[in-house]
Amino acid sequence: MTVTAWVTSASGRYPVRVGRGLLSGLGPGLRRSGFQGQVAVVSDATVLEAWGPVLLLNLESAGYSPTVLSVVPGEASKTVATAEIFWGRLIEAGFGRSDVLLACGGGVVGDLGGFVAATFHRGMRFLQVPTTLLAQVDASIGGKVAVDHRLGKNLVGAFYPPEQVVADVETLATLPPRERWNGLAEVVKVALVRDADFVAELERDLEGLAEGPVTERLEAVVARAAALKADVVSADEREAGLRMLLNFGHTLGHALEVATGYAPLSHGEAVVTGMKVACRLSHRLGRLDAAEEQRALALLDRFPRPLGVVPPEREALRAAALRDKKAVAGTLRYVVLLSIGQGAVEALPSERLDEAVELALEGL
Ligand SMILES: NC(=O)c1ccc[n+]([C@@H]2O[C@H](COP(=O)([O-])OP(=O)(O)OC[C@H]3O[C@@H](n4cnc5c(N)ncnc54)[C@H](O)[C@@H]3O)[C@@H](O)[C@H]2O)c1
Ligand SMILES: [Zn+2]
Repeated sequence: MTVTAWVTSASGRYPVRVGRGLLSGLGPGLRRSGFQGQVAVVSDATVLEAWGPVLLLNLESAGYSPTVLSVVPGEASKTVATAEIFWGRLIEAGFGRSDVLLACGGGVVGDLGGFVAATFHRGMRFLQVPTTLLAQVDASIGGKVAVDHRLGKNLVGAFYPPEQVVADVETLATLPPRERWNGLAEVVKVALVRDADFVAELERDLEGLAEGPVTERLEAVVARAAALKADVVSADEREAGLRMLLNFGHTLGHALEVATGYAPLSHGEAVVTGMKVACRLSHRLGRLDAAEEQRALALLDRFPRPLGVVPPEREALRAAALRDKKAVAGTLRYVVLLSIGQGAVEALPSERLDEAVELALEGL
């Protein structure tokens, strides 16, 4: 298995592998490494139905008897209550810290599985096996694991880097287009702030990536986006500087999700709206020239528009943006675009926040 990128973290280096058919190589790979312990697979019902047979049969034929820990698909499963059930299952099955937990699914499964791995016996072996586009290019890379609290998302968690990220793009064949668009929002995001050539490549046929078959081009796009994220988090694991760039479009994006109660806006739709706001504001602030602004907006306009969203109250949206964890002492740390392919973090004065809120409401 070739390595697409390496991530440097405080606890060492780990590889990110992007390719086709990697799922069936996991069992034999563990066997070749001489691993003789137990394997737990954290996943969700949809992923298990589509990809469980491939993964589990290969683990079994490599001589393992995986313990399957499955959740109901969706964010509501990402809780300490689920973790509690999984801790119990692991204890009953006699797992220890040298056994392996493999999180096979989207970001929900990766965050939850990682949280369980981080906390069980103060940290057991952990592999990320992402199966959504969003998880392959974003959530599985960078070591953030978490569960949600009733008072907010991702509030309880840790930095717990996996030993490996194994992204089998074949799994995207069963991923619904809406979920692919979701992941593409993060792909476009990282391209806009880091890689102008990549933006040009995405402009060529964005729709094909979301709605077409799994091609070599999709594989190359996943690999390139994953490598960009790996680079950023290697330089700044704890989000002290560079990693903040990945919040491009997320200040207003998160605020929109919170202020609309999450449904019916998907994360990708919220972030696309947030990125449009950021492009327009970057131009108004004199950071981004008009031609580049228009080019970025044209790309973002190709995402399907969210349907049936009741615009939130202006004040609720503003308060949610200020409550965003990036707000320090009333000033927002905000990601602007300097040019296509180059983002920067700046302090946003409060009157500009009002403008951003207006732009977000117009953009819905
Ligand atoms: N840790 C991080 O750095 C980080 C970064 C971004 C997002 N996240 C987290 O990731 C989560 C969102 O991730 P997500 O969008 O992958 O959501 P998800 O895990 O809920 O997956 C979305 C849907 O796709 C289904 N699915 C997954 N793989 C599939 C496949 N191959 N074929 C068919 N269906 C499949 C799932 O069952 C689910 O219904 C959020 O909880 C978010 O907080 C974490
Ligand atoms: Zn995001």
